[in-house]
Amino acid sequence: MKTIQVNLDKRSYPIHIESGLIKQIPTILSERNHGQKWVIISQQGIIDRYGKALVEQLSEAGFYSITIDVPTGEKAKSFEEYQIVLSRMVEAGCDRSSVILALGGGVTGDLAGFAAATFMRGIDYFQIPTTLLAMVDSSIGGKTGINITEGKNLVGSIYQPKGVLIDPDMLNSLPRQEVVSGLGEIIKYGAIRDKAFLIRISLWLDDIDTFPFEKAITRSCEIKAAIVASDEREGNLRRILNFGHTIGHALEAYLGYGKIRHGDAVSYGMTCAGWISNQLGYLSNSKYTILKNAIQKLPLPLLPKLDHDKMLSFVKKDKKTVSGKLHFVILNELGSAATTHNVTHDLMLKSLKEIQ
Ligand SMILES: NC(=O)c1ccc[n+]([C@@H]2O[C@H](COP(=O)([O-])OP(=O)(O)OC[C@H]3O[C@@H](n4cnc5c(N)ncnc54)[C@H](O)[C@@H]3O)[C@@H](O)[C@H]2O)c1
Ligand SMILES: [Zn+2]
Repeated sequence: MKTIQVNLDKRSYPIHIESGLIKQIPTILSERNHGQKWVIISQQGIIDRYGKALVEQLSEAGFYSITIDVPTGEKAKSFEEYQIVLSRMVEAGCDRSSVILALGGGVTGDLAGFAAATFMRGIDYFQIPTTLLAMVDSSIGGKTGINITEGKNLVGSIYQPKGVLIDPDMLNSLPRQEVVSGLGEIIKYGAIRDKAFLIRISLWLDDIDTFPFEKAITRSCEIKAAIVASDEREGNLRRILNFGHTIGHALEAYLGYGKIRHGDAVSYGMTCAGWISNQLGYLSNSKYTILKNAIQKLPLPLLPKLDHDKMLSFVKKDKKTVSGKLHFVILNELGSAATTHNVTHDLMLKSLKEIQ
């Protein structure tokens, strides 16, 4: 089993990665079981596929667990669903010693993590990510939260899990388009932190069917863990994780949440951000081409005709605009990123030609 530590002093935690790991969960958690309630938060399809077996194994190992199912899609990250989860925990007799197991993709992880952060002022939780995006990104770093009508992820907390348990075999049941979305975030890690990794990813993408997921997940988790460990609350360093996200988020908001997958929007956003890095003189033509070629190997969904001005109006509403200033992430090399305030509206507008 591969173990990567997220070093955050007293709040440090391990990320365990291994094929078939789901069967070892009762063993991994056994020393934390003191007869308290374990709350599995998941979606019906995942409960049927993985959750029921997990409940059985936990029960055989002497764990008392309950399962709470939440809807699929962004609607699960709402005040209503959050309230339902908390009420069901109270009804089931949960208390401060209860532990949440978030079994699912980023939607489940964000909601379950926020429930853990706030139930009785905070209880322990573990992330058991089941999508590629959640395995390499959302399950690590402690960002939890829900959406409100005014925008996505506007209510939340940074609250670290006690561990992240990754079983890459679960990707076997994940629909291809969800895998592609996660691959976008994997390309991002290479682009911002590890050129050799980016080049390997690009080669691996020549045949997605033989893509070495466990390897790629491990390297991605190492990169994210190191960044989070040095900058938990998004000062400067953690911001580089937003490479491709300024335009990516604008695309998501413009098209409407749920209309484009997060990782796909980020892939389009990275093409634009790479082009901007090139135009500003940070990234050579040949290096921009390497990045662009890697992204182009992803079978991304085609974009509808975009109203560029309208789309960019969403950039202003984005959380990455701090005190009116846009922190735009550029590459100054393949494998090296930085933020700049020098990206104008006009440059972003021109960059959209690269994706349409
Ligand atoms: N907290 C963070 O740091 C962070 C980072 C990035 C994204 N996010 C959030 O993550 C969310 C997106 O997460 P996502 O891309 O994982 O989507 P998701 O959680 O909606 O999952 C996608 C779909 O795949 C299904 N699914 C999940 N695992 C499966 C499996 N193994 N087999 C078959 N089907 C499976 C789900 O039921 C769902 O229908 C967004 O809400 C985004 O805001 C959070
Ligand atoms: Zn992202």
